[in-house]
Amino acid sequence: MAGNPMSEFEGLISAAKQARENAYAPFSNFRVGAAVRAGSGRTYTGCNIENATLGLTICAERVAIFKAMSEGERDFDAIAVVTDVDRLTPPCGACRQIIWEFCGDIPVLLTNLEGKVEKETSAGLLPRQFDSSFL
Ligand code: THU
Repeated sequence: MAGNPMSEFEGLISAAKQARENAYAPFSNFRVGAAVRAGSGRTYTGCNIENATLGLTICAERVAIFKAMSEGERDFDAIAVVTDVDRLTPPCGACRQIIWEFCGDIPVLLTNLEGKVEKETSAGLLPRQFDSSFL
């Protein structure tokens, strides 16, 4: 029997699900979890955190990446995003930029609580990327 092609991401996906439990989303009630795997082998998680101004909300993906950056991580090999909806949630535009800039072209796993998984890539989600190579 062929192996599950997503099995290498199982740990990352379950870390993202766990992180989603901590989502602070009283305004949208849309709870998101993310987990990014660093080159060190460590996994860093994030959840969305909303606030009363709404505009200062931060997505789960950026929380996970910024936590990792603040711990000194500089390379990443995959990120998973989990929501509780059938239509899998892709990262927003701001997160696509951050994923591209800090992680490069890595697999982006879109998943839900029911175990549906789709694999995208950061370059596929953000064509004709702007980054520091233009500066
Ligand atoms: N959100 C994320 O955390 N990640 C995504 O990929 C999409 C959107 C959050 C932001 C906000 O708290 C809520 O979902 C609704 O937009």
